[in-house]
Amino acid sequence: MEDDRWTKKQLREQLSVLHKRVEDLEKKTGKLQAMEKILHEGEERFKAVYRCIPVPTITWQKKGRDFILIDYNIACHEFSGGLLKNFMGHQASLLYSDRPDILSNLTRCLKEKSILKWETPYRMFTKGEHRVIAFTFAFVPPDLVLSHMEDITQRKEAEENILRSEKQLRALSARLLVAAENERKRIALELHDSIGQYLTAIKVNAENAIHLLQEHEQMRAAAMLEAGIPIIKQAMDEIRVIMMDLRPTILDDLGILATLSWVCRESQSVHEHIRFGKDLRLREGDIPEPLKIVIYRIVQESLNNAVKHSGCDQVRIGLRKTKQQIILSVSDNGIGFDPDRVSGMEEKRVGLIGMRERTELSGGILIIRSRPAAGTEIKASWPR
Ligand SMILES: Nc1ncnc2c1ncn2[C@@H]1O[C@H](COP(=O)(O)OP(=O)(O)OP(=O)(O)O)[C@@H](O)[C@H]1O
Ligand SMILES: [Mg+2]
Repeated sequence: MEDDRWTKKQLREQLSVLHKRVEDLEKKTGKLQAMEKILHEGEERFKAVYRCIPVPTITWQKKGRDFILIDYNIACHEFSGGLLKNFMGHQASLLYSDRPDILSNLTRCLKEKSILKWETPYRMFTKGEHRVIAFTFAFVPPDLVLSHMEDITQRKEAEENILRSEKQLRALSARLLVAAENERKRIALELHDSIGQYLTAIKVNAENAIHLLQEHEQMRAAAMLEAGIPIIKQAMDEIRVIMMDLRPTILDDLGILATLSWVCRESQSVHEHIRFGKDLRLREGDIPEPLKIVIYRIVQESLNNAVKHSGCDQVRIGLRKTKQQIILSVSDNGIGFDPDRVSGMEEKRVGLIGMRERTELSGGILIIRSRPAAGTEIKASWPR
């Protein structure tokens, strides 16, 4: 009996073994608790990161053959105008019933355990708004797909605007080239028809005079040469007209103010039924030299347009300065037009576009004020 019982010594030994085990267990439990805490903190941090990612993000979970919307972040809440909460737990197949491409990319992303990126026009199932979205689908094991949605509508619009204006610029420069070529043709034709004819007449006249001199008919030769003088004068006049059209010498000789007065007088003599007025309230020295030809061309085209299109009986050229600006305006009291309707690039006209180009290239702004039945004002201004 005595032998079956543990001796005190044995009991003490067993007790210390048990103590040791309890100590070990306590240590392990402590470690487990610390690990649990770290895990918990990690999870909380992950959730906070997810919530605060600045890109709208949705989490889809695979359920059978479908996906369920199980979470979304703050950016997505804002992007949906706060409406996304109404769609929590909904099936992707219902929300994207009109977008088989999105559904098939969800499945593909999970199946291939991959990241998919693509851009597409998109009608938001929350607000019904139409946007352009850059989607990124990312697989998260074991059964989730994160969907990032970057709204690139504005970027796309800006890209399209750039493309459109590049196309317009190409069309414009093609039209300006054609216009320049036509202008050359017109000058060549004018030289041929007028100056060419005069020179032919002068040549025949000189040949006849030489012939008469060889025949000792001095008097008739002199009369022949004299008859040629008006032809030479006419040729000189024609050359002056063509030169004026190309670049008025008066602009270089006397300046822009004298040129505008001359333009008014010339226009008045050709179009008697229209009253051409001018109001020039600055000095020649106020206008920078390179601006003078620009002002002349704008006035030339504006007067042409007023005479050609407006049916007006009054035109006024104004040129003045303020502290900050030089302001040119050409106005008529004609039928007016809708500037927005004639700015179409498909049209073959270059007058208004050329004016705008010249003004902007010289650092100014061109404004066309016109309405049907309300006359037209072309106003160009340049900073001083
Ligand atoms: N002062 C005006 N009054 C009424 N309509 C005008 C006036 N100026 C321009 N327009 C309208 O705007 C259109 C475009 O003018 P624009 O000067 O660009 O071309 P265009 O005069 O027809 O041809 P071009 O290329 O020879 O100048 C004209 O065809 C005309 O319909
Ligand atoms: Mg014109």
